[in-house]
Amino acid sequence: MKQKILVTGGTGYIGSHTAVELIESGFEVVIIDNLSNSREDVLDGIEKITGVRPAFENFDICDINRLDQFFQKYKDISAIIHFAASKAVGESVAKPLMYYRNNLQSLTNILELMEKYELNNLAFSSSCTVYGQPKQLPVTEKSPILPAESPYGNTKQICEEIISDTLRANNNLNAISLRYFNPVGAHDSAHLGELPLGVPANLVPFITQTAAGLRKELSVFGDDYNTPDGSAVRDYIHVVDLAKAHVIAVQRMIGKKQKTNYEVFNLGTGNGYSVLEAIRAFETSTGQKLNYKLVERRAGDIECVWADTTYANQELGWKAALDINTMMSSSWKWQQHLMENQDKFK
Ligand code: NAD
Ligand code: WQD
Repeated sequence: MKQKILVTGGTGYIGSHTAVELIESGFEVVIIDNLSNSREDVLDGIEKITGVRPAFENFDICDINRLDQFFQKYKDISAIIHFAASKAVGESVAKPLMYYRNNLQSLTNILELMEKYELNNLAFSSSCTVYGQPKQLPVTEKSPILPAESPYGNTKQICEEIISDTLRANNNLNAISLRYFNPVGAHDSAHLGELPLGVPANLVPFITQTAAGLRKELSVFGDDYNTPDGSAVRDYIHVVDLAKAHVIAVQRMIGKKQKTNYEVFNLGTGNGYSVLEAIRAFETSTGQKLNYKLVERRAGDIECVWADTTYANQELGWKAALDINTMMSSSWKWQQHLMENQDKFK
């Protein structure tokens, strides 16, 4: 019998790609999502790629009674990957309580019911945002956690502490927090990708929408950073590489291969690219010319961050394989898919 993995937020961007990798690795996937930032037809994309339509339950994980009913129905879950959260940094500044409620309550509900139903394995979506602007680069998992720059970033820090405290009190529980750097790209089939909702705040969807003619031009935020070309540097990582790391994390917990019951890993490529380099990679890999202009820095942005991935490479036996050109070309292919299906994605 296949082992069952609960993927919360499984119709979202990273969750849907992870569902595919789990299914392709022989797991059965059950998704909970309230569709607050995704659409049910993402399941069609998963089915087109894998030939399997995962079981899907549409409800809010903050509703503990509903979540309890779910676990009564699915008692045999081998691991939970908890993606469901609100994730827009700017929105979190405007609506902090919504972020604290959604991101913290969803996690505490899951942990409480894991204890009740004796489900022991949790992978948690954390973020490089917990490091702020690090003094030393690249950042390792031991780099200091700096005061959060936004309520969103704070929820990730608090969630990591909630997990750590809960596991200290309950040795039966295992967890792995995965700190993603900048996830970009789309599934090579173009059946899955990041769904655009309004004007994108993130670089890559803004690039692809500009190339597609939906936006006039891209603003490059800041050309006076202390970097080789003056624009800010990030560690962009392909979402499919990220998804594969989740499969390994789950296998590690199920196979009882953890060194301690709570582990934390950086997930990046270990390479930093500037905004201007990212634009050049987009142009070279797609043959599309991009309209852009250099403007002021964006408030709250850090200058440079990239990951030291040694620990994940050694312990998980995982290494990001897809380069920045593939990240850009797959994002462009996905953008074209969206354009071809405009009516559906309005
Ligand atoms: P996403 O918004 O595409 O996916 C999250 C999914 O969770 C959505 O489908 C949404 O509908 C669902 N959801 C939210 N709250 C819910 C709730 N209370 N109950 C049920 N479903 C709920 O986001 P993503 O980019 O796939 O991010 C997944 C996770 O990774 C999040 O925890 C995010 O904070 C984290 N993360 C994302 C990035 C990034 O840049 N995308 C970087 C670092 C960390
Ligand atoms: C990347 C670079 C921008 C848009 C965010 C969250 C972080 C994590 C990942 C969740 C920066 C520049 C962007 C544009 C630009 N998410 N840029 N023009 O800010 O590194 O990280 O996503 O955990 O917490 O903060 O990602 O894609 O917004 O920006 O020049 O129109 O592109 O200034 O240097 P960021 P991003």
